[in-house]
Amino acid sequence: MKVAVLGGTGNLGIGLSLRLAILGYEVIVGSRSEEKAKAKAEEYLKILSEHGYTGKIVGAVNAEASKQCDLAVITVPYEQAFALAESLKNELAGKIVVSPLVPMKKEGKLFRYVELPEGSAGEKIAGILKDSRVVSAYHNIPADRFADLKSSFDWDVLVCSDDSEAKKAIIEITNEIKGLRALDCGDLKNSKMVESLTVLILNVMISNKLKELGVKFC
Ligand SMILES: NC(=O)c1ccc[n+]([C@@H]2O[C@H](COP(=O)([O-])OP(=O)(O)OC[C@H]3O[C@@H](n4cnc5c(N)ncnc54)[C@H](OP(=O)(O)O)[C@@H]3O)[C@@H](O)[C@H]2O)c1
Repeated sequence: MKVAVLGGTGNLGIGLSLRLAILGYEVIVGSRSEEKAKAKAEEYLKILSEHGYTGKIVGAVNAEASKQCDLAVITVPYEQAFALAESLKNELAGKIVVSPLVPMKKEGKLFRYVELPEGSAGEKIAGILKDSRVVSAYHNIPADRFADLKSSFDWDVLVCSDDSEAKKAIIEITNEIKGLRALDCGDLKNSKMVESLTVLILNVMISNKLKELGVKFC
């Protein structure tokens, strides 16, 4: 299966690209720049080999990555992600598209969730990509620790969607990643709670001088 990690050159994109490639998924790192995408794909392959893994990772501009893939994850800051989704409607039609988007802003030392008229970023993406199968997931993963192949973790991934088959597919893929347990979190109306949980985690980290916290339901 070909997975496009749109904006896969950034923080969350690194870990997702590496860990999906290790599992045997063909990863296409998407970027606004073909040159940057290809350079990042090479860099990720080098990281894999340094850790004793092989995998298939290539780079392409976001539109080409979206066209070629079976499944896409939008790992772009939320302010830019909506316009990007708008521009990729045709390429992503009929495909599962994952939104890890967390709308938030800094207020003083802490972060605040940014309320959207659609209810959540996941619902807004679903409203834009009407012909895609939108799943909301991966919001609560701390990117740096996830990208470090030497790190071990035990985190839950909360997954929401109005498309139960698409949600099941993402739950299955996520459960293949060592250290992650995917939990069904209902429909997209619940996405706001999952997205805002990230803001809470960040504020807990800041207020308690902690780093790289994930979520575990136990
Ligand atoms: N970082 C985390 O720990 C984390 C955890 C969970 C969820 N998330 C969510 O995941 C998303 C990505 O977060 P991130 O920290 O990985 O972001 P990031 O590193 O700041 O940016 C990711 C990529 O977005 C692309 N980008 C920037 N501006 C763009 C624009 N105007 N149009 C299209 N692409 C643009 C850039 O790729 P190119 O320059 O190559 O185009 C960049 O490398 C966010 O929505 C965030 O809420 C992040």
